[in-house]
Amino acid sequence: MKFFIDTANIEEIKEANALGILAGVTTNPSLVAKEGVSFHDRLREITEVVSGSVSAEVISEDAEGMIEEGKELAAIAPNITVKVPMTLEGLKAVKAFSDLNIKTNVTLIFNANQALLAARAGATYVSPFLGRLDDIGQNGLELISTIADIFDRHGIETEIIAASIRHPLHVTDAALFGAHIATVPFKVLAQLVKHPLTDQGIEKFLADWNKEK
Ligand code: E4P
Repeated sequence: MKFFIDTANIEEIKEANALGILAGVTTNPSLVAKEGVSFHDRLREITEVVSGSVSAEVISEDAEGMIEEGKELAAIAPNITVKVPMTLEGLKAVKAFSDLNIKTNVTLIFNANQALLAARAGATYVSPFLGRLDDIGQNGLELISTIADIFDRHGIETEIIAASIRHPLHVTDAALFGAHIATVPFKVLAQLVKHPLTDQGIEKFLADWNKEK
């Protein structure tokens, strides 16, 4: 499983990129709005830092508007992936982008049929939202596993991005249940590195080293 970072904050992206584990970035309108910057300028900045896929979401609700917006976003850099919501209009747009060789990430996936439809329309990625399903008492990880089985059984190459990740266990389980990618907030990425025994071990090694001097 690969790692994407789920943020529009350029400092977080630079820091994650320096770790050498970053395969891409996902943004959404809420994350961009939080930054208070021009969307296109920020995307340009991100694509200068990260060479992997950078998802940029359209906000139009009709296919025609999505296609127009998506073409403008894709023109920013070759590694832009157009993020499209899972709707009937979204599917039409995904098909059009696929014909234009523009990569897509179909977002707000909450059941397996949505994922299958998105894949068949030509989506490069589908993003099932783990945390938001957990929030309403449904099993997000079971969804990842079901989508992975269906894609595997039918030879579908669309990649599964485990999204709406809230804690380190989501990451382990997403890997175990067949997600190709986990898109993680910076806070969770930092939590993945930590273990109290690692910290205690470092402290002890340094204390012993200094004692001998
Ligand atoms: C993914 O592409 C979305 O941007 C994101 O993971 C949504 O997460 P949230 O449910 O924490 O807002």
